[in-house]
Amino acid sequence: MATIYIDNEAKEANPKENLLHACLSLGYNVPYFCWHPALGSVGACRQCAVKQYRNEQDTTGKLIMACMTPASEGTRISIADPEAVAFRAAVIQGLMQNHPHDCPVCDEGGECHLQDMTVMTGHRERSYSFGKRTFRNQYLGPLVNHEMNRCIQCQRCVRFYRDYAGGDDLNAFRLRDNIFFGRAEDGVLESEFAGNLVEVCPTGVFTDATLKKHYTRKWDLQMAPSICVHCGLGCNTSVGERYGSLRRTVNRYNHEVNGYFLCDRGRFGYEFVESHERIRYPLLNGKSATKAEALERLGAILREGNIIGIGSPRASLEGNFALRQLVGPDRFFAGISDHESQLLSSILCILREVPARSPSLSDIEHSDAVFILGEDVTNVAPIMALKLRQSVRQAPMKLATDLHIPEWLDHSVREVVQEAKGPLFIATPYATRLDDIATVTYRAIPDDLARLGFAVAHAIDPTAPEVTGLSENLKNMATQIASALTSSKQPLVISGTSCRSQSVIEAAAQVAWALCKKGHPTFLSFTTPECNSLGLAMMDSRPLSAAIQAVENEPATTLIVLENDLFRRAAANEVTSLLKSARHLVVLDHTESATTEAAEVVLPAGTFAEADGTLVNSEGRAQRFFQVFVPSSDVEEGWRWLCEVSMAAGVESRAKWQGFDDLTTVMAAEMPAFASIPLVAPARKAAGKIAREPNRYSGRTSMLANISVHEPKPPDDPDSALAFSMESGPEPAPSALLPFFWSPGWNSIQSVNKYQSEIGGHLRGGDPGVRLIEPSSQSDWQYFPTIPAAQKPTPDKPLVIPIFHIFGSEELSRHAHGIAQLVPHPYIALHSTDASQIGIKADEEIKLAIGNSSFEFRVVLRDDLPRGTIGLPAGLVPIEDFTSSTFATLAPAKVESTAGGAA
Ligand code: SF4
Ligand code: SF4
Ligand code: FES
Repeated sequence: MATIYIDNEAKEANPKENLLHACLSLGYNVPYFCWHPALGSVGACRQCAVKQYRNEQDTTGKLIMACMTPASEGTRISIADPEAVAFRAAVIQGLMQNHPHDCPVCDEGGECHLQDMTVMTGHRERSYSFGKRTFRNQYLGPLVNHEMNRCIQCQRCVRFYRDYAGGDDLNAFRLRDNIFFGRAEDGVLESEFAGNLVEVCPTGVFTDATLKKHYTRKWDLQMAPSICVHCGLGCNTSVGERYGSLRRTVNRYNHEVNGYFLCDRGRFGYEFVESHERIRYPLLNGKSATKAEALERLGAILREGNIIGIGSPRASLEGNFALRQLVGPDRFFAGISDHESQLLSSILCILREVPARSPSLSDIEHSDAVFILGEDVTNVAPIMALKLRQSVRQAPMKLATDLHIPEWLDHSVREVVQEAKGPLFIATPYATRLDDIATVTYRAIPDDLARLGFAVAHAIDPTAPEVTGLSENLKNMATQIASALTSSKQPLVISGTSCRSQSVIEAAAQVAWALCKKGHPTFLSFTTPECNSLGLAMMDSRPLSAAIQAVENEPATTLIVLENDLFRRAAANEVTSLLKSARHLVVLDHTESATTEAAEVVLPAGTFAEADGTLVNSEGRAQRFFQVFVPSSDVEEGWRWLCEVSMAAGVESRAKWQGFDDLTTVMAAEMPAFASIPLVAPARKAAGKIAREPNRYSGRTSMLANISVHEPKPPDDPDSALAFSMESGPEPAPSALLPFFWSPGWNSIQSVNKYQSEIGGHLRGGDPGVRLIEPSSQSDWQYFPTIPAAQKPTPDKPLVIPIFHIFGSEELSRHAHGIAQLVPHPYIALHSTDASQIGIKADEEIKLAIGNSSFEFRVVLRDDLPRGTIGLPAGLVPIEDFTSSTFATLAPAKVESTAGGAA
């Protein structure tokens, strides 16, 4: 650490950082615009000026930009110096010259960094009385709104969008004081991370278009800490409600997980909570019923006995465990296909047994050589892709370090590094959005991808089994990948379930194990398909086919399905037959589906916004989400319904819990894998509650006055340390329980600065989440002996490849109003040579047969697909149970298909 002097006070600072970073870390208020902790410094806005002195005797000093000056030993600065204060006020006056001062109608109002900095600098009066520069705004799609007149030219938007996130359809146009930030023409922003502009832009140029539809002032939101449910990464979010409806999602900083950013699926997917497909009241045979009627019917049904429970990877640990308790461990099933269950079990076993550690997303960002095997990371685990874009900067950063250029001096670093990228190898069945930064890409069917992986392992450690029959090209590629991984400081191997291939997963583990054996500390990351896939796998339950078997064996069975549309898990005929064979079908879910349609009893389960629960992300980190508001309908947490149901049925022996704390305690006691679940979020009951509503929350006494002039008592929250009110206990909230970031004078999301132990570092008190899986320290893991043979599928019997879409492949976000507009129509993708070989053209309808099912879709030509394959958009076609060896047959739409052919 270095000693620096700020207004004559000696302070300790990190000499590798700049003075703005140091001042903010030390708690000083220094205004800034263009600097961002994740983007570094460019010195564009001149807002962070301070006075620097040569030594103690220097009383004159000179103005410097704090963000552009290192916090080196002995540095002396003054923030309070009158010349610095006047300079900062003059700067903001200049920046505001063309600003429309339209705060009352600005969606950023009340949470605006520009407002905060204006107040902080003391700029109070406008002296400019001439006409203002104006721009035409653009239509940027259904998610992000554009109002260019509010721009202060800080350049953060283009730096984030282009330099950080790799987008190329947003730019700065024109010159001097007439710069336009937008697209070359109107159109949907193409980046999967465009929504971050809403938080990155310090003014109201880019705002949340979904919030605009049901706008409320930001300080009127009741908020809770939450976890994104739209992929397996578990990004931390803060979600806000007003008048009983969910209004928006913003990022909740967690240094180890998402850091400062979310993907657009995660930011805008929340709208599914308010979709027309929501289930808000119990249904008996499709008709609305009261809660009492539903419980009475359920009590009678459950007393008949023979109950089977089917859980879900999109339900919380607590929901799944409550169902398991109700029906008994032997009668609880995981509700996923056999194949997915097998893949997830393998992943879990590998993560526990191979000494390679599953990295946090922060670890991924700092890895300096990466090998991706089989995953379209951008569309499956989007924020991981954003982290990988930063990871390729790790190795070339040495060029800047050698020239003594600090990492935060962004423009200079980019000048030195230019287009240099660290090693990133991508082996996938089709082209991905990360290919532009890859060292080498390889396109092949899953078995061939696995063969490359096994060859890399052998090249690292010749005692690993050898792959025979590889081409010279592939042998060289394997050697190149092995060499890059072994010469890096922190190699990372990424794979997952997307290819639905056991061999691909084993090959990734083989590479990681070979690296570990050779003494390279290695990260091994597997993407998992849903928000609690790994948590459900840790319950060690049997898959859906076992449930089907159990119902066949006992036809008079009652089936309880928790938050799961089984038609997304197995062939429609199998599911239909399962649901029909059960005497009673009871479904707890929040969103209508083919499964809820078939149910005798439907209970309205809470979404993440109306429930507390724990999810285990793909890293193995358990994280808690909290109820944002109490719904006015009959919606309740799945686990609470199950408690009430067991009481209604008199199944007392299993109802060992009444509330959330009891439930987690019982789960921790009964399942050793979840022993630390009660620690995921501290109870903190004795020291008072934590307010979900900010101090500035308005209208509490009058917002329901149209119903009754008597202000209702805020609802109790017996399940967490949070309160549905503005009243908080005296101590700061623990990091896992922070509903929102706010600090006096800091009303924008930048107030997170006040919660970090160091700017850009860990949250004070530690980042939320508890890791449940740690690698073995002394592994006797053996290499996988079986390497798949090379295959050559043919166009007449093509291999099916799932193609993932950030908008559409995930079940819940498809119901979000904004995202629904961006979901592609179902299609069949074919290589153009294969298409012409079988006489099919682009946009023609084609008939596809898989097993006993057949469908008609439009043809899209994609030459990035391997020959002899067809690509089907995952989640968008009614075929969910295919594996890495599912074949199809194709025929022109007008001709009846004759052959089945699932392998
Ligand atoms: S649009 Fe926003 S982020 Fe971009 S330059 Fe203007 S104020 Fe800065
Ligand atoms: S990356 Fe996944 S968890 Fe993170 S915001 Fe996007 S969908 Fe949500
Ligand atoms: S924040 Fe330092 S010049 Fe912009």
